[in-house]
Amino acid sequence: MYVLKPIPHSGRDLPRIREFATQHGGEGVRVRPGDLMEVAAENGLALELSDAQGTAAIALLYDFSRDDAVFGEIGTMVVGPDHQGQGLQHFLASVQLIQIAAQDYPFDGGNIFAVVTPGTASEHVLVNKVGFVDWSPGELVTELRSLAGIPFNPEKRNLSAPNGAIKRAAEFLLSLRASAQVYRVPTGDSKVRIEFSWPFDEVVDELADVEK
Ligand SMILES: CC(C)(COP(=O)(O)OP(=O)(O)OC[C@H]1O[C@@H](n2cnc3c(N)ncnc32)[C@H](O)[C@@H]1OP(=O)(O)O)[C@@H](O)C(=O)NCCC(=O)NCCS
Repeated sequence: MYVLKPIPHSGRDLPRIREFATQHGGEGVRVRPGDLMEVAAENGLALELSDAQGTAAIALLYDFSRDDAVFGEIGTMVVGPDHQGQGLQHFLASVQLIQIAAQDYPFDGGNIFAVVTPGTASEHVLVNKVGFVDWSPGELVTELRSLAGIPFNPEKRNLSAPNGAIKRAAEFLLSLRASAQVYRVPTGDSKVRIEFSWPFDEVVDELADVEK
């Protein structure tokens, strides 16, 4: 059984997560300046999937906001080599979309984005499974990302989550629910227990329009 929970915002956990990203992220993952990871953890938007052996995967949401303009980037998605092939990126990105909706993070097509390397598993999963679409970053988000030290790279493909992506994520997760707060992985027999401080199942039901 895997457990999925927010990474605590503490001096002890972030270096460990950064180390996991560096070790298993490969070329597709740029390790973010420390303060960006810290903000993600402070916002409860840095997730760690673990089992008895330790970290299995991480998924962070980076905030690039100024005043009323809010942008969130799904980034640093890394599944450890021993845990790949179970559809965990699809699962985790779907959980992130639910989390974004649940935390009243302003969501409107173009606010939630991801940057992928063309021809990779990550591109395939985000486009063909999660439903991300091509997106051209505007001036403000381009400036904010540059100021944060990770400017957009013309060799990468920029994607964003359209409005329908949250419902799609909720329906997908609902199809995987095994019992209260426990979900099957998309491929295989493993299960994931969700340990959030808010009622994840209820939010999934609501976003998937389940009638009570
Ligand atoms: C990307 C990553 C998270 C995916 O892990 P995962 O969730 O275990 O992926 P899975 O093996 O379950 O699924 C990968 C899918 O991509 C497909 N795929 C694999 N390599 C591919 C490639 N080069 N091009 C297109 N599709 C590819 C697989 O066939 C599979 O699709 P399918 O289910 O339709 O057959 C993992 O490979 C990883 O951590 N890589 C290193 C870090 C990284 O690149 N992160 C993304 C940065 S944004």
